[in-house]
Amino acid sequence: MLHDPNRVYVFDTTLRDGEQVPGCQLSTPEKIEIAKALEALGVDVIEAGFPISSPGDFQSVVELSKAVSEPVICALTRANKGDIDAAVAALKYAKRPRIHTGIGASDMHIKYKFNSTREDILVRAVDAVKYAKQFVEDIEFYAEDAGRADDIFLAQMIEAVIAAGATVVNIPDTNGYCLPEQYGAKILYLKENVKNIDQAIISVHCHNDLGLATANTLAGVINGARQVECTINGIGERAGNTALEEVVMVLKTHHAALNLSTNINSKHFTKISSQVSRMMRMPVQPNKAIVGQNAFAHSSGIHQDGFLKHRENYEIINPEDVGLDEAGIILTARSGRHALKHHLERLSYVIDKINLDQVYEKFLIMADQKKEISDNDLLALMSDGEEDT
Ligand code: KIV
Ligand code: ZN
Repeated sequence: MLHDPNRVYVFDTTLRDGEQVPGCQLSTPEKIEIAKALEALGVDVIEAGFPISSPGDFQSVVELSKAVSEPVICALTRANKGDIDAAVAALKYAKRPRIHTGIGASDMHIKYKFNSTREDILVRAVDAVKYAKQFVEDIEFYAEDAGRADDIFLAQMIEAVIAAGATVVNIPDTNGYCLPEQYGAKILYLKENVKNIDQAIISVHCHNDLGLATANTLAGVINGARQVECTINGIGERAGNTALEEVVMVLKTHHAALNLSTNINSKHFTKISSQVSRMMRMPVQPNKAIVGQNAFAHSSGIHQDGFLKHRENYEIINPEDVGLDEAGIILTARSGRHALKHHLERLSYVIDKINLDQVYEKFLIMADQKKEISDNDLLALMSDGEEDT
């Protein structure tokens, strides 16, 4: 398989790992709406669901496969024939189907989840891949809890599943346990020690239990992974998955250093973020990177002044690149004259220095009584002034 070494594939699991979150469940038409938005965003793979888990999930994978044509449509299974049969049936209409099968790789999971041994787990992993490969060419294997797995055993497992036909090997940090250095070293270890690793794409799937999902994903990519598994707004089990918009904007912002690209049109981020938040009833925290309400808002006087002198003083991303019209200069009691003048000029007031000092005094009195000053407040403030003179 030949892949552009500088291309990072984006695998979106909003509709599978994200949708597992209590309260986030979607109907099939809602999932189709999000899947179409993900297609327009440019994701390479959509994980559509876990077909064996419920008739509703099965049907959603069927309908998504019909509705979306560009991205690969992926269905999750455990490493058993029943799950794989259900996934094969659900993917019947997919133009580019992928089965995502796997099993626990850490001793913790092997002993306490499967009550098994490394030897037995290895056999089950290989059997699942071989079985799935009879029906679908594109097989992704996940080594669950790889973040806490022994590297030597993990390498043995990955080599065996690639030999059995896996095209993508997913190394999940299922519990969000790893430090970026540890996770990056794990990916590098696999790159250097799995003999047939070049026959598959390494995928990274990180959870955010310690707030390190994006950092770990990047450490994986820097060390050779070429698929990132993410969700919109970072929704997912417990503290969530890696936020798609964060990884993509890191790669964009640091393109000169990393020379890695995705197919994502980041101008869709603001819209898809609010769509997912609204449909999944999952508010986005205001200070969330890239898509939070305050991500491009400047509120302190010093920052506003610096921003208005040159936006790059306080802006590393152009808000238009993520689909926002312009950065927000929010007027509060901490805003300075420069920010006030900016907004007054936007509202077509021409104001000189002396006038600005007078208006600013009134503005501060008003701002002390309100959290935020709106355009209407400014208009009222200015018309007050007119009556006075
Ligand atoms: O976190 C995880 O390990 C997963 C796998 C099922 C891929 O979601
Ligand atoms: Zn997961």
